[in-house]
Amino acid sequence: MKMRVVITGANGQLGTALVENAPENVEIVPHTREDFDLRDINALERFLRETSPFVVINTAAFHDTEACETEFEEALFVNAIIPTIMARILEKIGGIVVFISTDYVFDGEKRGELYLEDDLPNPLNRYGISKLAGEVGVSKLSAKFYIFRLSSLFGKTTKRTGNFVLKIIEKATKGKPLRVVNDIFMTPTYAPDAAKRIWEVLLGNFSPGVYHVSNSGITSWFDFAKEILRIKGIDKDVMPVSHTEIKTKVKRPLWSPLGSKYLSPLRHWGEALKEYLEVESWT
Ligand SMILES: NC(=O)c1ccc[n+]([C@@H]2O[C@H](COP(=O)([O-])OP(=O)(O)OC[C@H]3O[C@@H](n4cnc5c(N)ncnc54)[C@H](OP(=O)(O)O)[C@@H]3O)[C@@H](O)[C@H]2O)c1
Repeated sequence: MKMRVVITGANGQLGTALVENAPENVEIVPHTREDFDLRDINALERFLRETSPFVVINTAAFHDTEACETEFEEALFVNAIIPTIMARILEKIGGIVVFISTDYVFDGEKRGELYLEDDLPNPLNRYGISKLAGEVGVSKLSAKFYIFRLSSLFGKTTKRTGNFVLKIIEKATKGKPLRVVNDIFMTPTYAPDAAKRIWEVLLGNFSPGVYHVSNSGITSWFDFAKEILRIKGIDKDVMPVSHTEIKTKVKRPLWSPLGSKYLSPLRHWGEALKEYLEVESWT
């Protein structure tokens, strides 16, 4: 019998990659906002009881970091309360919850080193706080849970400017000026690479707990932007700016590359970016 897995946010970047890379012995039940809004807790409980999944991979999130600052209650509800309720329902019906978290749970103070799974979180912004609250809720209410922390995703998305890569290409091709921060460092992560790794962990012999999943290599957003344009063959200047010059309500960690104590490194982000831009002709 196939293992039934619900994927929320199934048409998002990670959700799409999880669906497209699902192993054969898995029966996917995709969930999107069109089915129902996850904030409808009664509908959520009915759905989980009727579907009776072995695993729910909850990729749905409120991750507009600027909006999370002003809509903190909403951020907490979507990113923490809903996953916690999900965990509670699954605990009752015998399912496992998988929560997708972020490098933004860290404060960036570990400069020069990768953040590992047991490093102490200390989020600097409300998005990070809401995701950490989700981690705590899920881990406290589930006997068996998986938390995957990801960073700076790029992958298939129906939204034309749905990620940094597409935003840079869109702006460059429209002739708009490109000002990109050169003092914030992270690891860009290709959604299909992350999805394959998540499946490996869920179907492999890995203990429940927290795992960091990102491509390898560290870059600034400025160098990332330059590499996107180089691969696309777009001749356009990028102006490096400091994070202090960007008008924003969000305090971001200046350093958040992830590493794992338990999982082998994924390929370099540059190789993955090339595949995204060259093989996936839809960009
Ligand atoms: N993107 C990143 O750089 C990044 C980095 C680290 C971690 N993460 C985490 O990784 C996960 C996946 O990110 P992603 O980039 O794949 O996100 P995404 O492309 O925006 O996909 C998220 C999906 O969740 C759906 N969703 C959100 N709220 C919902 C609700 N209340 N009811 C039903 N569906 C809802 C969205 O639907 P709509 O399109 O209708 O809103 C969207 O399809 C998230 O948990 C995020 O916090 C992301």
